[in-house]
Amino acid sequence: MRHPLVMGNWKLNGSTKMVKELIRNLRNKLNSVSGCNVAIAPPALYLAQAKQALTGSKIALGAQDVDVNLSGAFTGYTSAEMLKDIGAKYIIIGHSDHRTYHKESDEFIAKKFAVLKSQGLTPVLCIGESKEENSTGKTKQVCTHQIDAVLNTLGASAFENSVIAYEPIWAIGTGKSATPTQAQAVHKYIRYHLAKQDSAIAEQVIIQYGGSVTTSNAAELFSQPDIDGALVGGASLKADDFATIINAAVTAKKTVYLS
Ligand code: 13P
Repeated sequence: MRHPLVMGNWKLNGSTKMVKELIRNLRNKLNSVSGCNVAIAPPALYLAQAKQALTGSKIALGAQDVDVNLSGAFTGYTSAEMLKDIGAKYIIIGHSDHRTYHKESDEFIAKKFAVLKSQGLTPVLCIGESKEENSTGKTKQVCTHQIDAVLNTLGASAFENSVIAYEPIWAIGTGKSATPTQAQAVHKYIRYHLAKQDSAIAEQVIIQYGGSVTTSNAAELFSQPDIDGALVGGASLKADDFATIINAAVTAKKTVYLS
Protein backbone atom coordinates (compact mmCIF):
# COMPACT_ATOMS: atom_id res chain seq x y z
CA MET A 1 0.00 0.00 0.00
CA ARG A 2 1.31 3.43 -0.91
CA HIS A 3 1.98 6.00 1.80
CA PRO A 4 0.99 9.52 0.67
CA LEU A 5 3.61 12.26 0.49
CA VAL A 6 2.82 15.95 0.81
CA MET A 7 5.80 18.17 0.14
CA GLY A 8 6.17 21.94 0.32
CA ASN A 9 8.21 23.60 -2.41
CA TRP A 10 9.14 26.99 -0.97
CA LYS A 11 10.70 28.12 -4.27
CA LEU A 12 12.58 31.43 -3.95
CA ASN A 13 11.03 32.40 -0.62
CA GLY A 14 12.66 32.54 2.77
CA SER A 15 14.84 34.29 5.33
CA THR A 16 16.44 33.05 8.55
CA LYS A 17 13.46 34.47 10.45
CA MET A 18 10.89 32.88 8.17
CA VAL A 19 12.59 29.45 8.24
CA LYS A 20 12.66 29.52 12.03
CA GLU A 21 9.04 30.58 12.43
CA LEU A 22 7.49 28.46 9.71
CA ILE A 23 9.23 25.28 10.89
CA ARG A 24 8.31 25.99 14.50
CA ASN A 25 4.67 26.43 13.53
CA LEU A 26 4.68 23.33 11.31
CA ARG A 27 6.15 21.25 14.11
CA ASN A 28 3.43 22.40 16.48
CA LYS A 29 0.66 21.62 14.04
CA LEU A 30 2.03 18.35 12.70
CA ASN A 31 3.33 16.85 15.90
CA SER A 32 0.88 13.97 15.97
CA VAL A 33 0.31 13.45 12.25
CA SER A 34 0.62 9.91 11.00
CA GLY A 35 -0.53 8.31 7.77
CA CYS A 36 1.20 10.83 5.51
CA ASN A 37 4.84 11.54 4.84
CA VAL A 38 5.65 15.23 4.99
CA ALA A 39 8.62 17.10 3.54
CA ILE A 40 9.66 20.69 2.97
CA ALA A 41 12.07 22.01 0.36
CA PRO A 42 13.48 25.40 1.39
CA PRO A 43 15.98 27.29 -0.78
CA ALA A 44 19.46 25.68 -0.76
CA LEU A 45 20.92 28.48 1.34
CA TYR A 46 18.63 27.57 4.24
CA LEU A 47 18.90 23.78 4.13
CA ALA A 48 21.33 23.58 7.04
CA GLN A 49 19.22 25.87 9.19
CA ALA A 50 16.08 23.93 8.29
CA LYS A 51 17.72 20.58 9.05
CA GLN A 52 18.69 21.87 12.47
CA ALA A 53 15.20 23.21 13.11
CA LEU A 54 13.65 19.87 12.08
CA THR A 55 15.75 17.80 14.51
CA GLY A 56 13.56 15.22 16.21
CA SER A 57 10.52 15.91 14.01
CA LYS A 58 8.94 13.60 11.43
CA ILE A 59 9.09 16.26 8.73
CA ALA A 60 11.71 15.33 6.14
CA LEU A 61 14.05 17.76 4.45
CA GLY A 62 13.85 18.20 0.70
CA ALA A 63 15.68 20.38 -1.81
CA GLN A 64 14.64 22.15 -4.97
CA ASP A 65 17.32 21.03 -7.43
CA VAL A 66 20.62 19.23 -7.88
CA ASP A 67 23.47 19.42 -10.36
CA VAL A 68 24.41 16.45 -12.54
CA ASN A 69 28.02 16.60 -11.25
CA LEU A 70 29.12 15.38 -7.83
CA SER A 71 31.96 17.89 -7.36
CA GLY A 72 34.42 20.05 -9.26
CA ALA A 73 34.59 23.33 -11.13
CA PHE A 74 30.87 24.03 -11.40
CA THR A 75 30.31 27.46 -9.90
CA GLY A 76 27.10 28.02 -8.01
CA TYR A 77 25.72 24.50 -8.16
CA THR A 78 24.70 22.03 -5.45
CA SER A 79 25.66 18.37 -5.68
CA ALA A 80 23.84 15.20 -4.64
CA GLU A 81 26.73 14.40 -2.29
CA MET A 82 26.21 17.73 -0.54
CA LEU A 83 22.46 17.20 -0.27
CA LYS A 84 23.03 13.77 1.20
CA ASP A 85 25.66 15.16 3.56
CA ILE A 86 23.28 17.79 4.89
CA GLY A 87 20.48 15.25 5.41
CA ALA A 88 18.11 16.11 2.57
CA LYS A 89 16.03 13.22 1.27
CA TYR A 90 13.50 14.27 -1.39
CA ILE A 91 15.02 16.26 -4.23
CA ILE A 92 12.87 18.06 -6.79
CA ILE A 93 14.12 17.83 -10.38
CA GLY A 94 12.59 18.91 -13.66
CA HIS A 95 10.41 21.61 -12.16
CA SER A 96 8.88 23.69 -14.93
CA ASP A 97 10.81 26.71 -13.60
CA HIS A 98 14.00 24.86 -14.53
CA ARG A 99 12.66 23.48 -17.77
CA THR A 100 11.56 26.98 -18.77
CA TYR A 101 14.20 29.38 -17.40
CA HIS A 102 17.23 27.05 -17.61
CA LYS A 103 16.10 25.29 -20.78
CA GLU A 104 16.65 21.88 -19.17
CA SER A 105 15.82 18.99 -21.49
CA ASP A 106 14.15 15.71 -20.55
CA GLU A 107 17.47 13.96 -21.15
CA PHE A 108 19.41 16.37 -18.89
CA ILE A 109 16.81 15.90 -16.14
CA ALA A 110 17.21 12.12 -16.50
CA LYS A 111 20.90 12.63 -15.64
CA LYS A 112 19.87 14.43 -12.46
CA PHE A 113 17.59 11.50 -11.66
CA ALA A 114 20.55 9.13 -12.08
CA VAL A 115 22.91 11.13 -9.88
CA LEU A 116 20.32 11.26 -7.10
CA LYS A 117 19.77 7.51 -7.25
CA SER A 118 23.55 6.99 -7.14
CA GLN A 119 23.57 8.75 -3.78
CA GLY A 120 20.50 6.99 -2.39
CA LEU A 121 18.38 10.15 -2.54
CA THR A 122 14.74 10.24 -3.64
CA PRO A 123 14.07 12.09 -6.90
CA VAL A 124 10.81 14.02 -7.14
CA LEU A 125 10.51 14.13 -10.92
CA CYS A 126 8.24 16.97 -12.03
CA ILE A 127 6.46 16.49 -15.31
CA GLY A 128 3.57 18.26 -16.97
CA GLU A 129 2.31 19.98 -20.06
CA SER A 130 1.92 23.62 -21.02
CA LYS A 131 -1.42 25.29 -21.59
CA GLU A 132 -1.04 25.01 -25.33
CA GLU A 133 -0.04 21.36 -25.16
CA ASN A 134 -3.05 20.75 -22.97
CA SER A 135 -5.47 22.47 -25.28
CA THR A 136 -4.11 20.61 -28.31
CA GLY A 137 -4.50 17.23 -26.62
CA LYS A 138 -0.78 16.56 -26.12
CA THR A 139 -0.79 15.98 -22.34
CA LYS A 140 -0.13 12.23 -22.42
CA GLN A 141 2.44 12.57 -25.19
CA VAL A 142 4.43 15.20 -23.23
CA CYS A 143 4.29 13.25 -19.96
CA THR A 144 5.30 10.06 -21.77
CA HIS A 145 8.39 11.69 -23.25
CA GLN A 146 9.37 13.19 -19.91
CA ILE A 147 9.10 9.81 -18.18
CA ASP A 148 10.67 7.85 -21.03
CA ALA A 149 13.85 9.90 -20.77
CA VAL A 150 14.36 8.19 -17.39
CA LEU A 151 12.81 4.82 -18.31
CA ASN A 152 14.96 4.43 -21.43
CA THR A 153 18.22 5.27 -19.70
CA LEU A 154 17.77 3.84 -16.19
CA GLY A 155 14.97 1.31 -16.59
CA ALA A 156 11.75 0.91 -14.63
CA SER A 157 13.60 -0.13 -11.47
CA ALA A 158 14.84 3.46 -11.10
CA PHE A 159 11.28 4.35 -10.10
CA GLU A 160 11.45 2.17 -7.03
CA ASN A 161 11.28 4.54 -4.06
CA SER A 162 11.05 7.51 -6.39
CA VAL A 163 8.37 10.14 -6.72
CA ILE A 164 6.69 11.64 -9.78
CA ALA A 165 4.96 15.00 -9.45
CA TYR A 166 2.43 15.73 -12.17
CA GLU A 167 2.37 19.52 -12.36
CA PRO A 168 0.49 20.91 -15.35
CA ILE A 169 2.30 24.18 -16.06
CA TRP A 170 -0.95 26.06 -16.60
CA ALA A 171 -1.99 25.21 -13.03
CA ILE A 172 1.20 26.34 -11.28
CA GLY A 173 0.75 29.53 -9.30
CA THR A 174 -2.35 30.44 -11.28
CA GLY A 175 -5.03 29.52 -8.77
CA LYS A 176 -6.47 27.33 -11.52
CA SER A 177 -5.91 23.74 -10.43
CA ALA A 178 -6.62 20.76 -12.64
CA THR A 179 -9.94 19.24 -11.63
CA PRO A 180 -9.68 16.03 -9.61
CA THR A 181 -11.06 14.12 -12.62
CA GLN A 182 -8.54 15.67 -15.03
CA ALA A 183 -5.62 15.01 -12.68
CA GLN A 184 -6.74 11.45 -11.90
CA ALA A 185 -6.90 10.64 -15.61
CA VAL A 186 -3.28 11.72 -16.11
CA HIS A 187 -2.06 10.02 -12.93
CA LYS A 188 -3.77 6.80 -13.97
CA TYR A 189 -2.12 7.05 -17.36
CA ILE A 190 1.33 7.62 -15.81
CA ARG A 191 0.92 4.52 -13.64
CA TYR A 192 -0.34 2.52 -16.64
CA HIS A 193 2.64 3.66 -18.71
CA LEU A 194 5.09 2.48 -16.03
CA ALA A 195 3.13 -0.75 -15.53
CA LYS A 196 3.78 -1.70 -19.15
CA GLN A 197 7.44 -2.07 -18.09
CA ASP A 198 6.97 -3.25 -14.50
CA SER A 199 3.62 -3.49 -12.76
CA ALA A 200 5.06 -3.84 -9.24
CA ILE A 201 7.13 -0.68 -9.68
CA ALA A 202 4.10 1.18 -11.06
CA GLU A 203 1.98 0.09 -8.12
CA GLN A 204 4.37 1.45 -5.49
CA VAL A 205 5.45 4.72 -7.13
CA ILE A 206 4.16 7.87 -5.46
CA ILE A 207 2.50 10.21 -7.97
CA GLN A 208 1.90 13.64 -6.49
CA TYR A 209 -0.26 16.33 -8.01
CA GLY A 210 1.05 19.90 -8.04
CA GLY A 211 -0.46 23.16 -9.27
CA SER A 212 -2.59 25.48 -7.13
CA VAL A 213 -3.28 22.93 -4.41
CA THR A 214 -5.13 24.74 -1.63
CA THR A 215 -7.10 23.99 1.52
CA SER A 216 -10.25 24.10 -0.63
CA ASN A 217 -9.34 21.56 -3.31
CA ALA A 218 -6.92 19.21 -1.49
CA ALA A 219 -9.48 16.77 -0.07
CA GLU A 220 -11.16 16.15 -3.39
CA LEU A 221 -7.85 15.73 -5.21
CA PHE A 222 -6.66 13.21 -2.60
CA SER A 223 -9.92 11.27 -2.90
CA GLN A 224 -8.73 10.11 -6.33
CA PRO A 225 -7.12 6.65 -6.26
CA ASP A 226 -3.96 7.55 -8.19
CA ILE A 227 -3.24 10.90 -6.52
CA ASP A 228 -0.79 10.00 -3.76
CA GLY A 229 -0.22 13.41 -2.26
CA ALA A 230 0.82 16.83 -3.46
CA LEU A 231 3.72 19.08 -4.26
CA VAL A 232 2.53 22.37 -2.82
CA GLY A 233 3.93 25.80 -3.67
CA GLY A 234 2.22 28.92 -2.32
CA ALA A 235 0.07 27.18 0.29
CA SER A 236 3.13 25.51 1.84
CA LEU A 237 4.36 28.91 3.03
CA LYS A 238 1.50 29.17 5.54
CA ALA A 239 1.69 26.62 8.37
CA ASP A 240 -2.09 26.53 8.87
CA ASP A 241 -2.82 25.88 5.20
CA PHE A 242 -0.05 23.33 4.76
CA ALA A 243 -1.20 21.43 7.86
CA THR A 244 -4.81 21.44 6.60
CA ILE A 245 -3.66 19.98 3.26
CA ILE A 246 -1.66 17.26 5.04
CA ASN A 247 -4.61 16.37 7.25
CA ALA A 248 -6.81 16.17 4.16
CA ALA A 249 -4.38 13.59 2.73
CA VAL A 250 -4.45 11.55 5.93
CA THR A 251 -8.26 11.49 5.98
CA ALA A 252 -8.75 10.81 2.27
CA LYS A 253 -6.15 8.09 2.00
CA LYS A 254 -7.46 6.19 5.00
CA THR A 255 -10.50 5.36 2.91
CA VAL A 256 -9.16 5.49 -0.67
CA TYR A 257 -6.23 3.08 -0.30
CA LEU A 258 -8.27 0.65 1.77
CA SER A 259 -11.30 0.58 -0.49
P1 13P B 1 1.59 26.42 -6.49
O1 13P B 1 1.04 25.46 -5.45
O2 13P B 1 1.97 27.73 -5.91
O3 13P B 1 0.70 26.48 -7.68
O4 13P B 1 2.98 25.76 -6.99
C1 13P B 1 3.00 24.45 -7.40
C2 13P B 1 4.40 24.04 -7.66
O5 13P B 1 5.03 24.50 -8.60
C3 13P B 1 5.02 23.11 -6.70
O6 13P B 1 6.25 22.65 -7.18
